[in-house]
Amino acid sequence: MILETDPNFMRTQPIIAMRFTLLCSSLLFLSSLLLFPEAKGQVISKLKERININDGWRFMRYTSEPDKLIYDVRPVVTDRNDNIVADSRPTEGVAVAVSQDVLKPWILPTANDFIKDPAKHHTRPPGNPGSEFPFVQNNFNDNDWEKVTLPHDWAIKGPFYDGGNAIVGGGMGRLPIQGVAWYRRKLNIASSDKGKSIYLDIDGAMSYAMVWLNGKLVGGWPYGYNSFRLDLTPYANPGGDNQLAIRLDNPTNSSRWYPGSGLYRSVWLTIENPVHVAQWGTFVTTRDVSASSAKIDLKVTLENKTTADQKIEILTDIYKAGRLNGQRGNKVGSFTKSTVRVMAGQKFDYQKSLTLQNPLLWGPLPLQKPNLYVAVTKLFSNGTPIDEYETQFGIRSIKFDPIKGMFVNGKPVRFQGVNQHHDLGALGAAFNKRAAERQLEILQQMGCNAIRMAHNPPAAELLELTDRMGLLVIDEIFDCWERRKTPLDFHLIFPDWHEADIRSFMRRDRNHPSIIAWSFGNEVGEQYTAEAGAALAKQLHDIVKEEDDTRPATASMNYAKPEMPFPKEMDIMSLNYQGEGIRDAPAYAHLRGIRTSPLYPAFQKAFPDKLIYSSETSSALSSRGAYIFPVTPGISAPVSDSTGGDPRKKQVSGYELYTAQFGASPDKVFFSQDKHPFVAGEFVWSGWDYLGEPTPYYNARSSYSGIIDLAGFPKDRYYIYQARWRPDLPMAHILPHWNWPGREGQITPIHVFTSGDEAELFLNGKSLGRKKKGEFEYRLRWDSVKYSSGIVKVVAYRKGKRWAEQTIQTTGNAAQLLLSADRNNIAADGNDLSFITVKVADRNGRVVPDAVNKITFSIEGPGEIVATDNGDPAELVAFPSRERAAYSGLALAIVRAEKKKTGVIKITAIADGLKKATIEIRTK
Ligand code: GAL
Repeated sequence: MILETDPNFMRTQPIIAMRFTLLCSSLLFLSSLLLFPEAKGQVISKLKERININDGWRFMRYTSEPDKLIYDVRPVVTDRNDNIVADSRPTEGVAVAVSQDVLKPWILPTANDFIKDPAKHHTRPPGNPGSEFPFVQNNFNDNDWEKVTLPHDWAIKGPFYDGGNAIVGGGMGRLPIQGVAWYRRKLNIASSDKGKSIYLDIDGAMSYAMVWLNGKLVGGWPYGYNSFRLDLTPYANPGGDNQLAIRLDNPTNSSRWYPGSGLYRSVWLTIENPVHVAQWGTFVTTRDVSASSAKIDLKVTLENKTTADQKIEILTDIYKAGRLNGQRGNKVGSFTKSTVRVMAGQKFDYQKSLTLQNPLLWGPLPLQKPNLYVAVTKLFSNGTPIDEYETQFGIRSIKFDPIKGMFVNGKPVRFQGVNQHHDLGALGAAFNKRAAERQLEILQQMGCNAIRMAHNPPAAELLELTDRMGLLVIDEIFDCWERRKTPLDFHLIFPDWHEADIRSFMRRDRNHPSIIAWSFGNEVGEQYTAEAGAALAKQLHDIVKEEDDTRPATASMNYAKPEMPFPKEMDIMSLNYQGEGIRDAPAYAHLRGIRTSPLYPAFQKAFPDKLIYSSETSSALSSRGAYIFPVTPGISAPVSDSTGGDPRKKQVSGYELYTAQFGASPDKVFFSQDKHPFVAGEFVWSGWDYLGEPTPYYNARSSYSGIIDLAGFPKDRYYIYQARWRPDLPMAHILPHWNWPGREGQITPIHVFTSGDEAELFLNGKSLGRKKKGEFEYRLRWDSVKYSSGIVKVVAYRKGKRWAEQTIQTTGNAAQLLLSADRNNIAADGNDLSFITVKVADRNGRVVPDAVNKITFSIEGPGEIVATDNGDPAELVAFPSRERAAYSGLALAIVRAEKKKTGVIKITAIADGLKKATIEIRTK
């Protein structure tokens, strides 16, 4: 048996750990004793191994006709429509008759743990489909398959599909996500593991995962966003050869955004005593929370996989968790030891409560602190420890007041939120903790305090980040139910899987204090089907409440009106766009589709006891640094080829006034929110640009709706939110840039976003007037400025006092490249990243805002350039390319440190006619 020295080894959260041979681990153990004489603070445990198996995989994707091992028959796609308007009415789902051999009956039993009614549990049919197939055989030679390390998204390296009839169009990101692929890996299961429970834990597999071990079909999980566990025990061969084979199948026309592909999150092997804390088997909730005390309720599900009843002692201690690394700090309390009986082959729910004095509460930044605790549950059999299980949690209270909005720990918090899809730009869906952390950091700098996980379960590690970084989360699971949005989307598996998907999603995520509400749907078609749709909503709502009655359950509504039956099933009112009104301003009058006046008041009248907030607002569109003239005189207009859009360059104007057909500029949303102060805040669509859904130019690859572009460079819009969400930060931001040769004398409006209330604008030293924000005005605009090159300066005031200023100026020609890194020291762990920005600058170091110079990157030392990007939604150069044109003066290179190789990485950027630049990154 392996001796482990890492206290994190048994954490419920994924922590990378490696498995070594007995010899190796004994050596490691000995050396750790030398390093840590009393193994201080280190727990040495034989209890459980949670082994990260992200490396050592072989991968193959079919380029021709794939095998016939299909999960289920799929309907023929007859009505493919890549660029359907996002708020179009979903249509009836298509049911298919099973007309060929499919593997579904063998996969369905994987859901049983999450189906409440035992009568509805699935029975595995006899037989072993696929067992004859070569790829699942132990002796199949996969030497010529590609070697890959997880998390792995096979599509992200491209190339992008171009043109109108691409097999994967703009809606799904123009990347080769489609088709069937296989992953194979040997598992190291020691003979001493005989008698143990052996589990495969897959954090995410896109999609229709089916898993074989040693030629036997074990099970699978179709929905690509859920994490799931497979019990390998009956199929494993301890001490012998163990061959894992995983088949994934990713259909086109199955998503409204880029879904990614492959084993795109971590995979784990868990080997433990057959009597243990069940998967996601703890639930910690808190009540009666105050600064002086809090009640903590603990539920632990114990699982007995043996054939005898077991008498088990259970004890849980609570420790303060270190904020940065989650490690255990001081012990602050204990649920005293109890003895329970767990029947053979059964589960048992154990519950206990305690009161903690002077708790350190978890609350959102910046006004509160995200303090965390760890509950360590230990199981003993006849005094011998048999399991240890860690649960990170926070102590906090939440309240949803229909008039005053959201309260955390009794203090009001307005939602200053954004929606985020799961991709990480040029890194695709392959989860990377640092990339996700960077996304959140840039959002927090803007003043964002909340994230809606649109529209699917996120990576588990992302929720660790939101806990640690003090961000509120709405955790969401589905974009559709029975009715479909795209021909092959989730509606196909909804009837069989929705219950298991919801329950497993919630059990995985329920201990995160950052999650304050559950969303079980986004703009689903059932909003349109009156009582029938509401009945389904109620069914899902009730599943959510059965799993957790401490948080509200909701689904986001862009169509359901207050008088319809659908909203009645919601605990809180999550409105998409309806609050501020949809297609209701004159500029939107010619458009067809959903049209509503601002519905906040009507919802409040109908639901006076329920909190109302906007789960999606705005859908403003823009390309960073691209400005198109003339500029609309209004505060919000739908983008079109002649207003705000340039179909040739596939750009949308950065004046931040143009929107999707159903959208509204930030200004229009702010106006509506401020007119209806009972509204608890908003979640903007979207925080970052994401792959896919490139409204309005579907021949592009990524969205235009982000406040931040795909590479992580803030658009101008960032500053209108910062001005509102961080009112105490003195700031002023001018747009557009001031390089307009050829526009001399032409009207070139200047707009300013500032946290001040008044500002004076100067062009080449001459005042263009001092302006004050009127009531419900959120930008200052000088719309009749005639362009002449030179210096634009703004001086902002607050309450008559000088508050902030900004100056921009016409630059000289591009002369040099400048490099900067978000972090100059990174960990040599094979995962950590440095994000390197390249600026194309003039001789004086000023960024040339319209520069498009082609940059070539090179690297020396223990690192790799994994991807480059420039944030242009229309850019179709594949992400791994080391050649990248600047876009609006900027480009990005993402550098990853090699594992276990420390040293200095040197990155060089060159471009024709420009002075080159070099930067060094240290890896430790
Ligand atoms: C909403 C939808 C989002 C996204 C957005 C685009 O209607 O819920 O998923 O499609 O529109 O603007």
